[in-house]
Amino acid sequence: MSVIFNEKEKLFTLHTNNSTYQIKIGTYGHLLHLYYGHRTEGSMEYLLTYADRGFSGSPYDAGSDRTYSLDFLPQEIPSSGTGDFRSPALIIENADGSCAVDLRYKSYEIRKGKYALKGLPAVYADESEAETLEIVAEDPVTKVEVSLLYGVLPSCDVITRAMIVRNGGNGKIYIEKAASATLDFVTGRYDLISFNGRHTMERIFQRTPILHMDQVIGSRRGMSSHEFNPFVIVADKNTTEDDGSCYGMMFVYSGGFKAEAGQDQYNGTRVQIGLMEEKFRYPLCPGEAFTAPEVIMSFTDRGLSVLSHQYHHCIRKHVCRGKFRDSVRPVLINSWEASYFNFTGDLLVELAEEAKKEGIEMLVMDDGWFGTRDDDTQSLGDWVPNEEKLGGTLKQLVDRVNQVGLKFGIWIEPEMVNERSTLYREHPDWVLAIPGRKPVLGRSQLVLDFSRKEVVDGIYGQIRKVLQSANIEYVKWDYNRCISDVFSIGTKDQGRVLYDYILGLYNFLERMNREFPNILIEGCSGGGGRFDAGMLYYTPQIWCSDNTDAIDRLRIQYGTSFGYPVSCVGSHVSIVPNEQNGRVTPIEVRAAVAMAGSFGYEFSFASISAKERDAMKSQVEHFKENAPLMQNGKYYRLSSPFADEATAWMMVSEDGKEAYVAAVPTEIHGNMPPVYIRLRGLTKDALYREKESGKVYPANALMQTGLPLPHEMGEYKAYIYRFEKI
Ligand code: GLA
Repeated sequence: MSVIFNEKEKLFTLHTNNSTYQIKIGTYGHLLHLYYGHRTEGSMEYLLTYADRGFSGSPYDAGSDRTYSLDFLPQEIPSSGTGDFRSPALIIENADGSCAVDLRYKSYEIRKGKYALKGLPAVYADESEAETLEIVAEDPVTKVEVSLLYGVLPSCDVITRAMIVRNGGNGKIYIEKAASATLDFVTGRYDLISFNGRHTMERIFQRTPILHMDQVIGSRRGMSSHEFNPFVIVADKNTTEDDGSCYGMMFVYSGGFKAEAGQDQYNGTRVQIGLMEEKFRYPLCPGEAFTAPEVIMSFTDRGLSVLSHQYHHCIRKHVCRGKFRDSVRPVLINSWEASYFNFTGDLLVELAEEAKKEGIEMLVMDDGWFGTRDDDTQSLGDWVPNEEKLGGTLKQLVDRVNQVGLKFGIWIEPEMVNERSTLYREHPDWVLAIPGRKPVLGRSQLVLDFSRKEVVDGIYGQIRKVLQSANIEYVKWDYNRCISDVFSIGTKDQGRVLYDYILGLYNFLERMNREFPNILIEGCSGGGGRFDAGMLYYTPQIWCSDNTDAIDRLRIQYGTSFGYPVSCVGSHVSIVPNEQNGRVTPIEVRAAVAMAGSFGYEFSFASISAKERDAMKSQVEHFKENAPLMQNGKYYRLSSPFADEATAWMMVSEDGKEAYVAAVPTEIHGNMPPVYIRLRGLTKDALYREKESGKVYPANALMQTGLPLPHEMGEYKAYIYRFEKI
């Protein structure tokens, strides 16, 4: 049993194989957080300390006992107006205008299996894999009721948290803040690891100490964003890749979010993640409920590599769904960097024919195939194939590509519209726009109001028609601007629009998953602007970045790897000089980096050299041969692209019998000292043979001292080593 309630001591204990989480119903019914850490039995109630601390008040029920204060007790659901002056997880404006929420324990239920959330993505698991704890707490005055949902997946070392707020009173209330999960630590010195960035430079690793101040990261953009990823790690000061305690909090949501971390006045640490509060004010009429999206929490005391493995496994097996979840994805060629908007059906068929010669399996027709979309100022919203450009119907084109022997994929951006489109002319009121104001334009486009059902239905009808019309086996779902004009004509409560928008998006994606289970969907948002676990529930892979430069990708993919598995990372080889930063790298380096993802190419054959072309076939073969290991093996970061002379990573099969190592030196100097790459995850005391050279190496030495990279002149090389245990 992974969830245990001790009636006498009023303790809820949640066990995974290697971690324990404990909650206590406090003397006055508050839900106190006792412990999250290494697996242990027994009560951790002793960790709470009580004292009469100046300016930390006590609940009225405590009477003359001034030692009980919510201002320093660790809590599961800290809320406003209870005497806790740290950051609350829940702020509600009550019907009378007051803002207090004082939640007291009411009931609990333990269920087999993992809870699901209506309309929202969530970790899934069957009854043998998970248990659910639901704790219900209520404000006795307003009758606001909150269900705290905990999903415990023992073998994943994962505990999820979500929250449902119900209005049990008789007036309308507003939720002003709903952080889905809070972690209170009574002691310790921690670092916050977060992933910041911008378009074409996403998920840049950042590690900062948690100090006596609020550190806030998040997105106000209506999307999870390039700017910050909705994933944070709280690590002990001394935690490394191989050792030390660390906690992850990953938000399963694709809209705006906020994560906060700070030390309080008594040196405790509070970390929270949840919905972005700005432009959020969710109305609840009597009897209505609101669901705060899920957070995936995970703990290990064995360092950051193990924490990543726990997330990789959870995402691969319990977030991603569908037919493609476990399969190696087809090697593709994408038309975007090959020809941007300037293609015809014939050119695409030619691209497919050339690609076929190199063993490529799928052609993706990117942006430009519909309406009069010859540039990015028009036609979004008009999902009607441009038959003149394609040289016939979409079906005819797809059939031609299929005859060449390639699958066919297509690009869509369903949430957007250009003013220059039939859709906008017919439905100008379908966009998010503030009355009386000119909207902010992003890439000449406006955002459709997906908080409204008729808009979602209208676009779904168009897209369905396209997908039904031909043998389409892959869809790249794009999203190319942020939401700035938050106003929907569908409601009087504008504070609900951004959340309802995401529900509309998920509804569309869910329908698409159900109706077209044989289509592989890749998420995308100007590259990796919506790279989150919410999208991964519907799209098992996401285009990692619009930046295809191999050296920048080392940093982007390094940051991505902390939370997300290789199988989710869309990664392609493009031409040099690179179109995003002008850097020139050999095709071997570009391929080595792109293979740490779902692999493909993105160029026209006319734009590459004969030497580059010669390399392709064996690259595709190499990928296909090694992809099962690369996608399913345990992924280890071997060095840092920010601190080390070479960036290296490796994948090791679950049984330790095979390993794949890739290294890309990024520094070159005169009289260069040797660069050793220390391997990880091999079987101790075993011997490994490197497949190409036949050389035999002791695992212990590879892991302790490392593997020296060859001493070679010149910039940008990639070294691949494949080991087998003997
Ligand atoms: C976004 C994507 C690109 C490409 C273009 C098409 O920027 O990230 O890969 O699909 O849109 O307009």
